[in-house]
Amino acid sequence: MTDRSCDIGLVGLGVMGKNFALNMADKGFHVAVYNRTEEKTRLFMSDEAGHRSIEAGYTLEEFIGILKKPRAILLFVPAGDAVDEVISELVRNLESGDLIIDCGNSHFKDTDRREESLSKEGVLFLGMGVSGGESGARHGPSLMPGGPKEAFERVRTILEPSAARVKGEPCVAYLGPRSSGHYVKMVHNGIEYGIIQLIAESYDLLRRGLGFDIEHLQSIYEEWNAGILDSYLIEITARILGQKDGKSGNPLLDMILDRARQKGTGKWTSRDALDLQVPVPTIDIAVAMRNMSDYASERRKAGAALRGPSNSFTGIREIFIQELEKALFAAVLLTYAQGMSLLRRASLTYEYDLDMEAVARIWRGGCIIRAALLEDIRHAFRMQPDLENLTLSPEIGERLLQAQEHLRSVVCTGVELGIPVPGFMSALAYYDSYRSIRLPANLIMAQRDYFGAHRYERTDAEGTFHTDWES
Ligand code: 6PG
Repeated sequence: MTDRSCDIGLVGLGVMGKNFALNMADKGFHVAVYNRTEEKTRLFMSDEAGHRSIEAGYTLEEFIGILKKPRAILLFVPAGDAVDEVISELVRNLESGDLIIDCGNSHFKDTDRREESLSKEGVLFLGMGVSGGESGARHGPSLMPGGPKEAFERVRTILEPSAARVKGEPCVAYLGPRSSGHYVKMVHNGIEYGIIQLIAESYDLLRRGLGFDIEHLQSIYEEWNAGILDSYLIEITARILGQKDGKSGNPLLDMILDRARQKGTGKWTSRDALDLQVPVPTIDIAVAMRNMSDYASERRKAGAALRGPSNSFTGIREIFIQELEKALFAAVLLTYAQGMSLLRRASLTYEYDLDMEAVARIWRGGCIIRAALLEDIRHAFRMQPDLENLTLSPEIGERLLQAQEHLRSVVCTGVELGIPVPGFMSALAYYDSYRSIRLPANLIMAQRDYFGAHRYERTDAEGTFHTDWES
């Protein structure tokens, strides 16, 4: 009889789960899989598992029975109630010291709740962000685990070879206690929303504003991907632009409805940033623009009723493309700066004790926001682990200084042409307000004190003051 005792278990054979099971098996681990629908497990075993060292549990009892003790089980089930349901089924069959790892995009507060309740049962719990989509799960994602350190140490030898690698370093690191891993993944997604919005605006400027055809656009993004913008999201943008629709023969992009959906991680990032009072305007506007895109029928009415400028582009196209590249670079950099500053505040508030260099390091490969720029961001945090804001790193600050005039010029072009560029605007406004020694908040405070006696602080004395403005 063959030895069925498996190194690791995996529940949930959706695309991500299946691919991660294959990935771990290819790295030499003996993997047990289980799916609630038995049929899915059978299909996976017959069509995809091949001769790999993968065992199927067709019942939960069988699955748990073939795991080495103490057991370690990865969950690849959709975030939300499904995670709680699977956990409660598992817990009935687990023993003290066993470990559950939630690999979904769970809300960090759910992760805290689950860890607390499982610890009462003696079961360890890690919340692990997994980024990289289907292909990342199959060939090496970026993994963002948080929870008890000893739990991570137990699975480190499996996670490290299964993660993406950049310059020999695995894109996985223990991030901190409790929900730190899922928090970092949430902010990753918030940054992802911001960058996607910025790229969409650059495409709109070139297509609608300058009237470039899609083939030309494809070559622009390809060139950009070989320069300062070298990143996964620019790379796939070029590929998307080159895709033809099999049905109509048109560029596929032209056939896709301009209605952006969302699962909610961007909104969670904005919401928690509001709670922690951290400005992340480019992420906020990216969420708002997805919502705006959903107003399709109202936009159609407004398009007929409301007028904008009738200007057409009069500049030099080649120069504009170069400016746009630098503007996009600056705006992307400022989006990372916003996300990183949120992580820093969250680390203090929630006592995650995040190592910001490690966060940048594990985002360099495997994940959706991977970019050559993350090497510089990592370097900035290595030089100054307590860096308050990325823009304050001398090297990053210098790059922003060089690019800012292009960011201004691109925003002006959008305004002149009536093409919405709220992502670029918000990034520029973030830069300008962060570097403002004096903001007009004095007037805000005066008004609050005028109508609500909310009091204000003075520039020349301690304490709070009220003025009888109408006397
Ligand atoms: C990743 C992605 C992944 C997923 C997002 C999409 O890191 O691999 O971020 O988590 O594609 O959930 O999010 P929206 O549906 O909210 O755009």
